[in-house]
Amino acid sequence: MTAPRRLIIAMDGPAGVGKSTVGQYVAKRLGYHFINTGEMFRALTWKALEDGVDVEDQAAVLALARRLKWEFHPTEGGVTLKTFIDGQGVTVQIREERVSRNSSAVAANPGVRRLLCRLQRRLGRGGGIVMEGRDITTHVFPDADFKFYLDASPEERARRRTRQLKASGLPADFAKIHAAILQRDLNDLKRKINPLSQAEDAVVIDSTRLSMRQVAQKMLRLIRARA
Ligand code: DC
Repeated sequence: MTAPRRLIIAMDGPAGVGKSTVGQYVAKRLGYHFINTGEMFRALTWKALEDGVDVEDQAAVLALARRLKWEFHPTEGGVTLKTFIDGQGVTVQIREERVSRNSSAVAANPGVRRLLCRLQRRLGRGGGIVMEGRDITTHVFPDADFKFYLDASPEERARRRTRQLKASGLPADFAKIHAAILQRDLNDLKRKINPLSQAEDAVVIDSTRLSMRQVAQKMLRLIRARA
């Protein structure tokens, strides 16, 4: 008997839609790795802010990205591959508000996108991954075995983000978070290079009225029916 083929499952969608929660659940059920590519952009943004590199200076940010040693190690029961730069895990720091605010400038840097895209393709090459971001279905893995686009209203996404921050003991103000989500949607959509868009052949799931578990189960049903 041959072993089942290890698939590439690509997911895109706007900020705060729950891609990570859903992606981790799906990956765990399938015995795959989960990769949140936003963490790579955030890690670089954090490092630039720490080192006093101007995030708008594209050459300087790219030089920094090239200097760093990028590694991805499994955590959370071995499911999630977390980003490490120069040997340092940055899970907590990259959630700071200043990192969210400045990450759009880093994500608009064409050289950085090319470098991170290469890393993402290398991580996914052998399959057995669920990878989420903004351009995974359209650019990084346009030929993925499964492509999903998760959506939800900005209000619902702001409510979820507020709950998530409060649960991790961080300050959370709904109005500010809502405004930030609208701004980040705009930045993601109007970016010249690889903006957020729905791949024509992606399965679109509107999660506004669904729990994360329901979304994940919907995805798993589709994957198991066709795989
Ligand atoms: O998903 P997130 O909010 O953690 O993403 C952080 C930043 O990175 C955000 O500005 C969007 C950007 N991003 C991107 O441009 N492409 C990806 N594949 C993932 C994230």
